[in-house]
Amino acid sequence: MSDLTREDAFLTLYTDLAREGPGAAADLGWALSVAATPSAARICDAGCGSGADTVTLAKERPQAQIDAVDQIAHFVAAAQKRTAPFGARVQVYQEDMAALKGPYDLIWCAGALYFLGVTEGLTRWRTALAPGGAVAFSEPCLLSRPSEAARAFWAEYPQITDVAGIRARVAAAGYRVLGEQMQIGDAWEAYYIPMAKRIAKLRPEATGALSEALDEAEREIARWRAAPSEIAYALMVVAPDLPLPHE
Ligand SMILES: C[S@@+](CC[C@H](N)C(=O)[O-])C[C@H]1O[C@@H](n2cnc3c(N)ncnc32)[C@H](O)[C@@H]1O
Repeated sequence: MSDLTREDAFLTLYTDLAREGPGAAADLGWALSVAATPSAARICDAGCGSGADTVTLAKERPQAQIDAVDQIAHFVAAAQKRTAPFGARVQVYQEDMAALKGPYDLIWCAGALYFLGVTEGLTRWRTALAPGGAVAFSEPCLLSRPSEAARAFWAEYPQITDVAGIRARVAAAGYRVLGEQMQIGDAWEAYYIPMAKRIAKLRPEATGALSEALDEAEREIARWRAAPSEIAYALMVVAPDLPLPHE
């Protein structure tokens, strides 16, 4: 495993992990209910990774038509494999989530909207929403009076803000908040504990780029363990303020 590229090393680490970011199935149920997503909804899992939430969406809404999109072919292939039992009502595409077409009753986006920016992404998705549609997304969030350890965890995301700042970014896109809750603890354990096991499994054979990728992931887990009650995603369910002119 010595001659892997940096990207291949990253994908090797993520192979066989259930998800690529923090999240919990129960939070999806909450978001679907806050968004009042109908049973036969058209749903998009934007930035689906290997499809953990796509599977949960398909189970929670057994009559829904679900598209899932990710830009990384490796994750798209994994998500296609995982969702194959649901048949044609779940489709996974290698696409840029900035260019969603819809129409969707719900766009679900776990730990990926920050790649576009909250205001920028919501603005782009406005025309991909069906009348009455909503977006549910999770976004890094600073809690009040963050410790040095919490700030250190988010050092590589200088755009991070608190929940009031996220609400302001939502409002700047012409959306209102239907519901919000914090993801702290469980959702992060669901991501980092399997990752720590994967690192331990790969470590004995790892050299070169893979060894560096494992070191980097270990440092991230250590930074989370230094302040687990302070590291949060805000899970936001939002909807446009106004209908589009033709709606
Ligand atoms: C942190 S992972 C989260 C994956 C998944 N939602 C989960 O919670 O397990 C972020 C994902 O967003 C994808 N992504 C980032 N920017 C994207 C874009 N412009 N279009 C499609 N996918 C994108 C990445 O490839 C990655 O799989």
